[in-house]
Amino acid sequence: MHPLQCVLQVQRSLGWGPLASVSWLSLRMCRAHSSLSSTTCPSPERQEDGARKDFSSRLAAGPTFRHFLKSASAPQEKLSSEVEDPPPYLTMDELLGRQRKVYLETYGCQMNVNDTEIAWSILQKSGYLRTSNLQEADVILLVTCSIREKAEQTIWNRLHQLKALKTRRPRSRVPLRIGILGCMAERLKEEILNREKMVDVLAGPDAYRDLPRLLAVAESGQQAANVLLSLDETYADVMPVQTNPSATSAFVSIMRGCDNMCSYCIVPFTRGRERSRPVASILEEVKKLSEQGLKEVTLLGQNVNSFRDNSEVQFNNAVSTNLSRGFTTNYKAKQGGLRFAHLLDQVSRVDPEMRIRFTSPHPKDFPDEVLQLIHERDNICKQIHLPAQSGSSRVLEAMRRGYSREAYVELVHHIRESIPGVSLSSDFIAGFCGETEEDHVQTVSLLREVQYNMGFLFAYSMRQKTRAYHRLKDDVPEEVKLRRLEELITVFREEATKANQISVGCTQLVLVEGLSKRSATDLCGRNDGNLKVIFPDAEMEDVNNPGLRVRAQPGDYVLVKITSASSQTLRGHVLCRTTLKDSSENC
Ligand code: 5AD
Ligand code: SF4
Repeated sequence: MHPLQCVLQVQRSLGWGPLASVSWLSLRMCRAHSSLSSTTCPSPERQEDGARKDFSSRLAAGPTFRHFLKSASAPQEKLSSEVEDPPPYLTMDELLGRQRKVYLETYGCQMNVNDTEIAWSILQKSGYLRTSNLQEADVILLVTCSIREKAEQTIWNRLHQLKALKTRRPRSRVPLRIGILGCMAERLKEEILNREKMVDVLAGPDAYRDLPRLLAVAESGQQAANVLLSLDETYADVMPVQTNPSATSAFVSIMRGCDNMCSYCIVPFTRGRERSRPVASILEEVKKLSEQGLKEVTLLGQNVNSFRDNSEVQFNNAVSTNLSRGFTTNYKAKQGGLRFAHLLDQVSRVDPEMRIRFTSPHPKDFPDEVLQLIHERDNICKQIHLPAQSGSSRVLEAMRRGYSREAYVELVHHIRESIPGVSLSSDFIAGFCGETEEDHVQTVSLLREVQYNMGFLFAYSMRQKTRAYHRLKDDVPEEVKLRRLEELITVFREEATKANQISVGCTQLVLVEGLSKRSATDLCGRNDGNLKVIFPDAEMEDVNNPGLRVRAQPGDYVLVKITSASSQTLRGHVLCRTTLKDSSENC
């Protein structure tokens, strides 16, 4: 993306309130590097210095206004194999990776795993090589998370380790470049460049297409950043490169961003506005994954079931969106577009042998048509993540979640009636602003009432910029937060063990992933509810080839008789190899 395109996007986002001020891009001279000009040896730094001067004079001359106009009006339909045209201050050669080796490290959520694949796909096309060996890397990129203070602290600690690597680097090698990608780059912007002078590149979640240019600028010894948020970037044309070629499942990003503005959450500020990828490009990716033999696809998005593809104009009718009963939004009602039920229907038709999951949904967007589809379609997993965050209506209001405890519980009942046997999971935050002991007891009671199969529990971490930061007080002492969190974890485990024990004696369909981490004689896979199932690696019959004895391989569907259950794992013995279509679970 060229600078003026960025400026234009800032302007487009100006009408949009809180996120308008976060769009930011700059190229900065790195003082630390400018001292290298006194070096006398003909080292890569010396060459770099010459290149920098040349680069700086080209940068000073700058691109012409005509160039900006051209780039701003250019359609964005580039073939994914094409490398971007260089901006006028870079040559094509400088824009290319020149076989530099990139080491990528991912932190945070599943979206970040997918973003890592997107970033890599872009760099690979630009001529970079990938390495899994930190020592041989020329470029180290950290794909970061900001959701809680602890997630960011991990990155700061990692940067200190990398600093040593950069300082120790022999002069005979090209200088090591370090980049911060993703949510932390977006949240902290130049604070990172100022605090850690050895960071060369910053790229926010919507700026990965710009990575080749940012790295080219960094090559010349300058810091480079693009943390612009976009209203429409979905990386629809970038086919992520799967890191693990033997994986049986893949993630497909279908939407980005979040419009909910829950009062505790940094995501709308780091990931920007909600936007969905066109259905056609999602289907194309799912088809490719099916052709590659993958057996499971998880549709990804910060609010995955708020999906709304408005790219097909004829579908922009005035029909208002159905929300779950008793739920409201923090934003003006949206209308029209292709909704999640349509996408789920289409995706699940691509390959009946491919399991479909989705994460992470918002409870407000479960209209009946989504629930019915999940119930009816064999290959859509009967598993729903339903983040509650709290069991107290008072706290839910302070969180601006748009529902009461009663509406949430009613939705749980409705889901259980619509999809018998559905597996439920949730997220909870302990110790949110103003949470009393009574509120906490309400959360404990919700955990007991719903009896989730899986849970993700966190202590509240105040984030700057959020509504809670501006309007509420982080008044629950740290030790109280942690004590409440411990209590939630204990109750969750007790209830999940009970919920999972219902499976004992049942026969379940398991997608085999590979060897169990704990034992070389056991295999591991996942049931429909996404729970881990461990079973001995034994010979079995193949239902489609009677008389044939086989051993399970990754990607096979097998029927497993469940013999024991804990809060996180099921154990059993394998009965036969089968297919998703032919399987008959019984319980
Ligand atoms: N503090 C603690 N947990 C948080 N989450 C989001 N923001 C915060 C925060 N500031 C949790 C929510 C969300 C999950 C992804 O992370 O439970 O659903
Ligand atoms: Fe972390 Fe949220 Fe960003 Fe994911 S979207 S990396 S959870 S801050």
